[in-house]
Amino acid sequence: MRLFLALCCLLGVVCRAQAKAVFAHYLMGNTATFGPSDWETDIQEAQAAGIDAFALDVGSGDNVALPLQMGFETAAYYGFKMFFSFDYSGGTGTITDGSSSNETEAIWPKDNVTALIKAWSSSDAYYTYQGKPLVSTFEGPASADDWTDIKNETGCLFIPDWTSIGPKAALKTGVVDGLFYWGGWPWGPESVNTTIDKQYMAALAAADDNKPYIMPISPWFYTNMPGYDKNWVWNGDNLWYDRWQQALDLSPDFLEIISWNDFGESHYIGPLHTTEYAQFKTADSPYNYAANMPHDGWRAFLPYLIAQYKTGNASLSQESLMVWYRAHPVADCTTGNTTGNAISQGQTTMPPKDILQDRIFFSALLNATADINVTINGNPSAANWTNTPSSSSSSSSSSTGIYHGSAPFDSHTGAVNITLTRNNKIVAQLTGIDITPNCTDDIQNYNAWVGSVKVAESGAARLRQPLSCFFSTPLLVPGLLLAGYFYTFL
Ligand SMILES: *[C@@H]1O[C@H](CO)[C@@H](O)[C@H](O)[C@H]1NC(C)=O
Ligand SMILES: *[C@@H]1O[C@H](CO)[C@@H](O)[C@H](O)[C@H]1NC(C)=O
Ligand SMILES: *[C@@H]1O[C@H](CO)[C@@H](O)[C@H](O)[C@H]1NC(C)=O
Ligand SMILES: *[C@@H]1O[C@H](CO)[C@@H](O)[C@H](O)[C@H]1NC(C)=O
Ligand SMILES: *[C@@H]1O[C@H](CO)[C@@H](O)[C@H](O)[C@H]1NC(C)=O
Ligand SMILES: *[C@@H]1O[C@H](CO)[C@@H](O)[C@H](O)[C@H]1NC(C)=O
Ligand SMILES: *[C@@H]1O[C@H](CO)[C@@H](O)[C@H](O)[C@H]1NC(C)=O
Ligand SMILES: *[C@@H]1O[C@H](CO)[C@@H](O)[C@H](O)[C@H]1NC(C)=O
Ligand SMILES: *[C@@H]1O[C@H](CO)[C@@H](O)[C@H](O)[C@H]1NC(C)=O
Ligand SMILES: *[C@@H]1O[C@H](CO)[C@@H](O)[C@H](O)[C@H]1NC(C)=O
Ligand SMILES: *[C@@H]1O[C@H](CO)[C@@H](O)[C@H](O)[C@H]1NC(C)=O
Repeated sequence: MRLFLALCCLLGVVCRAQAKAVFAHYLMGNTATFGPSDWETDIQEAQAAGIDAFALDVGSGDNVALPLQMGFETAAYYGFKMFFSFDYSGGTGTITDGSSSNETEAIWPKDNVTALIKAWSSSDAYYTYQGKPLVSTFEGPASADDWTDIKNETGCLFIPDWTSIGPKAALKTGVVDGLFYWGGWPWGPESVNTTIDKQYMAALAAADDNKPYIMPISPWFYTNMPGYDKNWVWNGDNLWYDRWQQALDLSPDFLEIISWNDFGESHYIGPLHTTEYAQFKTADSPYNYAANMPHDGWRAFLPYLIAQYKTGNASLSQESLMVWYRAHPVADCTTGNTTGNAISQGQTTMPPKDILQDRIFFSALLNATADINVTINGNPSAANWTNTPSSSSSSSSSSTGIYHGSAPFDSHTGAVNITLTRNNKIVAQLTGIDITPNCTDDIQNYNAWVGSVKVAESGAARLRQPLSCFFSTPLLVPGLLLAGYFYTFL
């Protein structure tokens, strides 16, 4: 290894001694009433998904002393990691998007930042990179000068998100050790692209010491929080599929999933906690648009995707299917003043119906193709794959990997039934939330409902293993139940 590293250095290749990692952006502002079991759930689910660390978004003035203590203690117990992401966007609990150049900087006093890093950076659970505690931000370039002293006093490695000023200006401050970009969403009805990611990577690679890039990756964006001056939707239709393909292709140093628990912006991939809904009231939302809209299904492929990102050679241990869609046709109900795109983000706005498609989106992680069928209230909808492993460049073999596609609502409402079949046998079935023309208070909910299910065949195949082996692997139990379910069902 030493020799290898020395050779790399000789050849002028910058040595990357440390492996890649995947983070999830985590709002501490939502954890005020968390008990230890809430932390346990989040940490265990993140570990099961293959996530390395939470980037703890801490707002200035937020009283997070107790939640931090509980979080770090739980993380240390489970061998999980966390690091700070100081939120410079506003007062208590205020989270806004960072790409506006006009944002008022809230003051995060330098001494308060230093004190928090000092208090927690020596915890076993604090995430380190190249031997230093990692510290990030949401915005805050106006406070760039603070970081000379903060870094000197804490010895931290500083990788902020200063999206509002762009990579060149951020590097020019001379205080950053890498950069995180926030804007993982597409413009209008377009698909997401990697133009800006590549600008960041080029600028960072050109810096003297080849600084690391944290690439943003998000499944969705819808917020209706008039109290925080936020009310817009971005195109998340194919986003979770597209963006992961881009992450595998670009293979940056780090990925940060936005987010784990930001319910107000609808991009959470963590479990719903009823203790975390206070922000909907604080921000004058018309109603709680995250309740009953689980996003857990979006984690289903993460063990595979994260392994693929880290090694390029993930093995598939469980085939599965995931599905997501909005529960109301986009032209029904009122918009609740929600726009597609946002003026505050320097964009031209358009009606949400010009951005979002009335379709049911699905992805399947498979080792061989299968047929996908969708019905709405019994009406078949033209479902098929638009992307297969062989049509994307980052897969290791032609048939194993992610299959993706969608099926139109076709003006139907009612029960949604999605099936995967092989050789005319149903190997996975999922019943989604009903599509209805009726919205709470006649205001559209542009959030997505997400579901996932394991492919039964995988479990069934394992049943041939000796019983002792079966009981030594807890993961097989759901497989057996599922297989049993499908046996009766067929
Ligand atoms: C900064 O820390 C001081 C001393 O602990 C505290 O009184 C003050 O409220 C903190 N300010 C913010 C904005 O967190
Ligand atoms: C902080 O600055 C002092 C004085 O310039 C220097 O001796 C020390 O090594 C610095 N510490 C770190 C961690 O950079
Ligand atoms: C990438 O997306 C941006 C904004 O979403 C858009 O302005 C740009 O034209 C796109 N670039 C390409 C090459 O599609
Ligand atoms: C990929 O992993 C398999 C086992 O999981 C191994 O046999 C194979 O050699 C690996 N290939 C590469 C290119 O690392
Ligand atoms: C939409 O905006 C108008 C004008 O600001 C306001 O009167 C109305 O109450 C808003 N509607 C909702 C549902 O928030
Ligand atoms: C910038 O801030 C000024 C003053 O608050 C406001 O009038 C203006 O509309 C803002 N511009 C944008 C693009 O948000
Ligand atoms: C799935 O759809 C295809 C084409 O629409 C149809 O031929 C097939 O019978 C359907 N299979 C099931 C299980 O509904
Ligand atoms: C699905 O797409 C494949 C390949 O593009 C095609 O061969 C097949 O006929 C399509 N099936 C349906 C039901 O449209
Ligand atoms: C879903 O569709 C399949 C295939 O048409 C059918 O066998 C099954 O009964 C349906 N399940 C539900 C819950 O509607
Ligand atoms: C939707 O609202 C209409 C009119 O208020 C009502 O007749 C219908 O039963 C509702 N449908 C559902 C699925 O709730
Ligand atoms: C697909 O993977 C499962 C394990 O998840 C295995 O049981 C099955 O035999 C595999 N099928 C093919 C066609 O490779």
